[in-house]
Amino acid sequence: MRCFPCHTPHELDESNPKHEKAIARHKELEKTYGQRINIFRDTPETTLRNLMVSSRKPRAGRLPLINVADPAKSLLILKPTSKLPKKDADGKFEKPSHAEPVSHMGGLKMHVNDQSYKSFMAWIQDYSRVIGDQYASADDLPLDNWYPSMQVLRLKNAPESWKVLTGVQMFVHAWNDTEKSWSDEPVAFTQGTVTPRKMVNGALFLLAPADAGGQDTWDREGSTLPTGRYLIKTYVDTKGRLADNPAAFLTEADYFGQATVEDTWNEGFRDAKVLDGTLLQK
Ligand code: HEC
Repeated sequence: MRCFPCHTPHELDESNPKHEKAIARHKELEKTYGQRINIFRDTPETTLRNLMVSSRKPRAGRLPLINVADPAKSLLILKPTSKLPKKDADGKFEKPSHAEPVSHMGGLKMHVNDQSYKSFMAWIQDYSRVIGDQYASADDLPLDNWYPSMQVLRLKNAPESWKVLTGVQMFVHAWNDTEKSWSDEPVAFTQGTVTPRKMVNGALFLLAPADAGGQDTWDREGSTLPTGRYLIKTYVDTKGRLADNPAAFLTEADYFGQATVEDTWNEGFRDAKVLDGTLLQK
């Protein structure tokens, strides 16, 4: 959603009239920056191979796309969390920087501790452990059964005590009408930071059902939360734990409060499901 269309050539569709501008823009970027603009390839495997090859031989004055020694210092993280380069005296952008302080010609596309940052970081940390031989067997691999969706949860009127930029995690529990209780395990999760307008926004990650049969039978691309009642539990990173461990899930010690939402879930930030922070109860 956030790297389109600049780095996602395979998502551009010539037959879609809505993509016309995006295709023209991408062509221009390719002409200026060459193949390095095409970060996300047609399959995850090709994307990873491309990232690995490029990161194996870091060039002087340039951080690697994936930094296995220090995942937070990967260009894949630093570019989208950095602003545009400064302008020179003629009002033209200076050359974008690939070393710290990094600047990004795409501008700010991801915030430290939002849901994309968390998943990028978790993935690069995991990748580093794999190639660092830190998993003895396949059984040690984390059971990663969260899948990104386009459904967005927005908390508005964040409580007074939530400082701007603090990380907030929101776990979604579904109502079970047979058992007349909320699901023990969350069915969805997201994370964001408190904005200056006292909101927290995040696209949901959905938990693949345990009976999804190796997850391959589950429609991970098209899955949505069904219409119904949901309990949202909020956890606030007041102790700054995410700074040391961006992939962490906050725990009961960080619990703030909960409230319910109802009805259908739509896609996209404009149609976010809104939760009023003033309704949160312990
Ligand atoms: C509006 C267009 C645009 C969007 C959206 C965008 N970028 Fe970029 N990005 C650029 C341009 C232009 C460059 C080349 C200039 C530069 O290095 O800053 C670039 C460069 C990069 C590079 C360095 C590539 C290299 O090998 O030199 C990385 C990594 C990167 N972007 C990551 C991201 C990620 C991840 C996202 C999404 C979360 C993103 N960008 C969103 C325009 C964009």
